Amino acid sequence: MTTRHQTPREIHDLLDEYVVGQNKAKRAVAVALRNRWRRRQLDPVMAQDVYPKNILLIGPTGVGKTEIARRLAAIANAPFVKVEASKYSEVGYHGRDVESMIRDLMESAVSLVRQEHAVRVSAKAKEYAEERIFQTLLETRGLDDVPVEMHADYETGRIWRPEPVEGEPAVEDADEAEAAGERNELLRRLHGGELDNEIVEIEILDSGLSNLTIMGPQGTEAMGIDTTALQEAWGRIPMAKTKTRKITIAEARPIIEGEEADKMVDPDAIAREASERAANDGIIFLDEIDKIIGGSGGDGPDVSREGVQRDLLPIVEGCAVYTKYGNLRTDHILFIAAGAFHLHKPRELIPELQGRFPVRVALSPLTEADFVRILTEPRNSLVRQYQALFSTENVKLEFTEDGIAQLAAIAFRANGITQNIGARRLMTILEKCLEDLSFDASERGGETITVDAALVTTNLGETADDEDLIPYDM
Ligand SMILES: Nc1ncnc2c1ncn2[C@@H]1O[C@H](COP(=O)(O)OP(=O)(O)OP(=O)(O)O)[C@@H](O)[C@H]1O
Ligand SMILES: [Mg+2]
Repeated sequence: MTTRHQTPREIHDLLDEYVVGQNKAKRAVAVALRNRWRRRQLDPVMAQDVYPKNILLIGPTGVGKTEIARRLAAIANAPFVKVEASKYSEVGYHGRDVESMIRDLMESAVSLVRQEHAVRVSAKAKEYAEERIFQTLLETRGLDDVPVEMHADYETGRIWRPEPVEGEPAVEDADEAEAAGERNELLRRLHGGELDNEIVEIEILDSGLSNLTIMGPQGTEAMGIDTTALQEAWGRIPMAKTKTRKITIAEARPIIEGEEADKMVDPDAIAREASERAANDGIIFLDEIDKIIGGSGGDGPDVSREGVQRDLLPIVEGCAVYTKYGNLRTDHILFIAAGAFHLHKPRELIPELQGRFPVRVALSPLTEADFVRILTEPRNSLVRQYQALFSTENVKLEFTEDGIAQLAAIAFRANGITQNIGARRLMTILEKCLEDLSFDASERGGETITVDAALVTTNLGETADDEDLIPYDM
């Protein structure tokens, strides 16, 4: 990833690589992200009073709201979760309660911090892991019971022993000297990777789980049981059970490195740092917020959507949420909410909640010209995706400018005729355009297929009025 704290312009430009247009939204999230860093530079008394300016992204379906969130997650280098507001239900009802999003954020922070720590200790962990494997090799070869302490130098791959202390007899034994030579050679080969395919019998933690891994009963949360306390108890059971496995050295390396890394990082320190990061840098992207407008109904008689809003309120306003790593205050967590708001308006959110989203950004509907850009410009644009897929069959897929223009035009028109699903339409149009070619591609290795306006028109018809699909309002 790039540097730790990008400027708004850098964040904007990174988003630009994936999301076409929607500059206002990009600028808003870029500023919000940067403001986390700015606040951190203030003196603590002032910082305590600077609350994040939560953002509400409003825009029709398929114009890039969720896409911005996904890309932001990769850029942010901060604890980040993207959740769907519609997935929650009021406390006391069947379903996930809203506080679980804070616990999810905490988990995200823990894994972020753990990863950072692991990187820091990874060189040492590699070294220790090799030493352990080396010891195992010595044992299996009967080279291990030598009275003199051996030292391995991992820089040079050389083994040496301490200079004989004066008065003690120097080691002169010829057998021993030979054994030392063998060990030397063994370590050199191990270090150089020459022994990677050799099978070793090695003791590792049971089930390959590191002792940092915290197991929680899976799925119980989905059943509406608060598992925090359970998980807490679970996480504290020391998992010292080991087992012996026969695996190649290449397979053993990462496992043992993981174990050694875990030994060097302190879970309590990770929890403390993660908690601090989640509280001060954490970002929660609250997608589909418009789906929690309106009274009961919709998803079932039990679900009160306004109830979810009311549960959400304290979290957005700032409260303490119990997590298995301790209480987490939510005051400085940044919330970015998004919704299409085609059935309801933002002003239908309960007033207190509206007030907590002071930054409102409307995303623009996409134009035909945007469609052209979306097809071609993003790093993993649809066109690039199909080209990559076809290249696996050794087929070169080429798109002419007029071919792209025709695809965009047809997609745009289809959005007007049937339902407007934004850029998602491009996926259905392109897939349909290429479906026969996809079928035949495996037999056309070596060929170049050119997708021009003529081919698009032949495959899709002038308007892409697919009589088969129209009745289904696709
Ligand atoms: N501005 C854009 N630039 C690039 N790709 C886009 C853009 N808008 C939409 N897309 C493409 O369309 C797909 C759907 O977009 P996205 O998921 O962001 O829609 P949304 O705005 O969240 O809509 P909804 O309200 O239905 O959730 C994305 O996977 C993305 O590939
Ligand atoms: Mg979305």
